[in-house]
Amino acid sequence: MARGEWAQRWRALASIDLMAGSAGEDRMVERWRELARKLDAGIEQRPDPILDFVLDRLAPGMTVLDIGAGVGRWTVPLAARVRTVTAVEPVEGMRCVLRERLAAHDVANVSILEAPWLEADIAMHDVAVAAYSMYTSTDLAAFARKMEATARRLCCLAMRLPAHDGIIGELSERIYGEWHDSPNFIVGYNALLEAGFAPNVYIEPAPVRYWTDPTIADAVARARRHLRLEDNRHDNLITETLERRLHPVAEGYRWPDWMRAAVVWWEPARA
Ligand SMILES: C[S@@+](CC[C@H](N)C(=O)[O-])C[C@H]1O[C@@H](n2cnc3c(N)ncnc32)[C@H](O)[C@@H]1O
Repeated sequence: MARGEWAQRWRALASIDLMAGSAGEDRMVERWRELARKLDAGIEQRPDPILDFVLDRLAPGMTVLDIGAGVGRWTVPLAARVRTVTAVEPVEGMRCVLRERLAAHDVANVSILEAPWLEADIAMHDVAVAAYSMYTSTDLAAFARKMEATARRLCCLAMRLPAHDGIIGELSERIYGEWHDSPNFIVGYNALLEAGFAPNVYIEPAPVRYWTDPTIADAVARARRHLRLEDNRHDNLITETLERRLHPVAEGYRWPDWMRAAVVWWEPARA
């Protein structure tokens, strides 16, 4: 494997389109509001060991950068733990729902900065966290270097960890000739090592959550979405693979693919 290959792989998988796969910002705002409502009702408030790992490393006097804050899934609990949070969020619809949530939770120690991370003009903070927001940055090392230059104490990058024997990996390999279908922890961590970082890793422990679909047709639709397939050219291959590999369960069909994450973290060395 040639030097720089992981960085190239990340670059090829990263989508520079902030809204890739979504129906356009205006139409998405209602979906984000719905997600925000579920978060606030506790419906989406599943245990999040990755967030807990980060919260355990914070102290009340700290300043924290939440890069790619979205609707504030992490911003609200971070703000409850530290002095101030700067939420960096380039998408207006996300910022709009985030502002509504901060007001609803009476959170007064968060400021919102409108910019993509690599363009953000930002003062030094104690901690920089980026949860699942680096997938649109083709240069992951530059993303991490900017975090390191902006955080005195701690940098954390949370990324998705795909199942080693997942169906999406198998289909991606057969359709695209590449097991990785999107940017993830495996590619990201290796790209960071290759760039000279030597970060620590905490992986979400089992039990992990698995995808379940009520019907095979729903599972085909999920596979198409993940593989960004816009037509039905590969439906036979997908259906045959799903019928062979999905586990029938009471609620429908369970995938071997899991929803699991890892956080890559390090303490910037300062002279
Ligand atoms: C998958 S969401 C995650 C949101 C939140 N961190 C969470 O864990 O729920 C990714 C978010 O990152 C934002 N984002 C994407 N690219 C970004 C970039 N280059 N700089 C900052 N934010 C970015 C998106 O607008 C979106 O709100």
